[in-house]
Amino acid sequence: MGLTMSQKIIHNHLVSGKLKKEEEIGIQIDQTLTQDSTGTMTYLQLEAMNIDEVKTKRSVAYVDHNLLQVGFENADDHKYLQTVTNRYGIYFSKPGNGICHQVHLERFSVPGQTLIGSDSHTPTCGAVGMLAIGAGGLDVAKAMAGVPYYFKMPKMVNIKLSGTLQPGCSAKDIILEVLRRLTVKGGVGKILEYTGSGVCNLSIPERGTITNMGAELGATTSIFPSDATTKEFLKAQNRLEDYHELSPDEDAHYDEVYEINLDELKPLIACPHSPDAVRTVEEVGTIKVDQVAIGSCTNGSYQDLMKVATILKGKTVHPDVSLVISPGSKQVLTMLAKNGALADILASGARLLESGCGPCIGMGQSPATNAISLRTFNRNFYGRCGTLSANVYLCSPETAAYSALAGVLINPMNEKLGISQPDSFEINDLSIISPNKQGDIKRGPNIKPFPLNEPLSAYLTKKVLIKVGDHITTDHIMPSNAKLLPYRSNIPYLSQYCFQTVDETFATRAMSEKGGFIIAGLNYGQGSSREHAALVPLYLGIKGVIAKSFARIHRSNLINSGILPLEFVEDKDYDQMNQNDVLELKDLTHLVTQAQPLVMVYNVTQNRYIKTRLLLSKRERKMILAGGAINLIKQERGE
Ligand code: F3S
Repeated sequence: MGLTMSQKIIHNHLVSGKLKKEEEIGIQIDQTLTQDSTGTMTYLQLEAMNIDEVKTKRSVAYVDHNLLQVGFENADDHKYLQTVTNRYGIYFSKPGNGICHQVHLERFSVPGQTLIGSDSHTPTCGAVGMLAIGAGGLDVAKAMAGVPYYFKMPKMVNIKLSGTLQPGCSAKDIILEVLRRLTVKGGVGKILEYTGSGVCNLSIPERGTITNMGAELGATTSIFPSDATTKEFLKAQNRLEDYHELSPDEDAHYDEVYEINLDELKPLIACPHSPDAVRTVEEVGTIKVDQVAIGSCTNGSYQDLMKVATILKGKTVHPDVSLVISPGSKQVLTMLAKNGALADILASGARLLESGCGPCIGMGQSPATNAISLRTFNRNFYGRCGTLSANVYLCSPETAAYSALAGVLINPMNEKLGISQPDSFEINDLSIISPNKQGDIKRGPNIKPFPLNEPLSAYLTKKVLIKVGDHITTDHIMPSNAKLLPYRSNIPYLSQYCFQTVDETFATRAMSEKGGFIIAGLNYGQGSSREHAALVPLYLGIKGVIAKSFARIHRSNLINSGILPLEFVEDKDYDQMNQNDVLELKDLTHLVTQAQPLVMVYNVTQNRYIKTRLLLSKRERKMILAGGAINLIKQERGE
């Protein structure tokens, strides 16, 4: 039987396991990326591994999340990142050079190679036929040290595109349509492969919008073929030598197949507070708009912003609307400046932000109380924008720009813009520093050591510290906003804010009880790959999370931190659990060593047993027994 595109890449990088659904496989990693929010911790972990230099072909550290420097903390972190990456042989993309996924797509992506990144939108580089996966920071550190990346062989899903996008529709509408059909949990344990006659009509940045937001489906990754359009893109980036063709075999087998006819697609919009709450723009109607934010790693490309500039040219932004634009990269911004489009954008009354994440992560531009914010971004989780009462909608750059002019939501159907991928891009890599592997590593006072767990105890008796519902995101567990981001390398400080938007007293309770358990519903830990959502609970003494199900990256992060990810065998047992119940787990080291998946949890308060399951691979069992991945690495080195 033939192979799909990702099966081909996995096959070429396979170190352990077989291409068999749900079996654990290990693959060699060619490239890694980090961003500043997760990167400081990743490099502290890399340092703990005592290697001389990174073993990957290309590793890049980006500073894009927190560009505000209102105190010494961020500046110190940036200095640490620059000096530690230089020491280990890692490229450093300076603040202002752009968002990691946009820059990586432009300057580093290679079809057929593997990439893991400590950011959940790493799959963006699937746009050129790369196997690009979002992972925890520790997995990225391990990959840089030459350790394979382990994950369960995903199911293969084929999204067959036919036809051509009609005027007013864009790549954003394609991924919103996929989200409408599959929902935020529809991609879990799956890789989405885009094929069909409609693919050749999509440029690489358009494909990047789709692979980027595939993260919202919970998918392992998304991938496009590497074809003539890919070749043109790499040539225009002056990297023709990186081109390799990639397509699925004709007899490749897919577990699920979906068809989308682009001719029939309408402008779509994701309503508050989930990227899968998708309706047509027409259905939502002419709601009043207070803020419009255009850019991010989803829609910050040259092509996207040229469309916006064309719409805004000679017009004025509605007086009641604040329009902010953050270009995806310095390359994009420079090209807009050179061809005059930037002047058109500014003349319309739009505000220009730095090439970085900015409002996407609540880093400035939080909307006013009760405001409606229209964003071209990828997430609209409750509170992520920094204003709890705001309602955030996700849409295409076309819908956003027309609406900014009108002051109300506008359906851009039938508006023809005709902007395509340029023949050549502006190449200037002066903001990407090549490492010379020399010099000292500079550490400011905000850089605290990462927390370490203890080896697994045979017996645990602890209280349920909190009971949360379904779809709890890593933003809920460990918020990341303008106030907290400067402390990303200071876990003791961050711990005070754990679960703050759900329960203000959680952190104090966890400290006074010296740790305990978390009870959760479905898809616990979805959203951003933020490792801090596991490291902070570890610091607070959390021993285990008992959930109906876990999001993939967060589950790995828990195991890496030595926290037990237990699943209810019967969902109805979730209903019986209460905060403050005392739970007792016996014989744990024996159960884990013997790979017994059934763990009986005794609820002391209610005098009843609850069945949970602990499905761990051999490697994961070792990590849980050792109390986390760093402990295991040290143990294996005899330290
Ligand atoms: Fe940055 Fe938002 Fe993307 S935080 S990496 S622009 S999802």
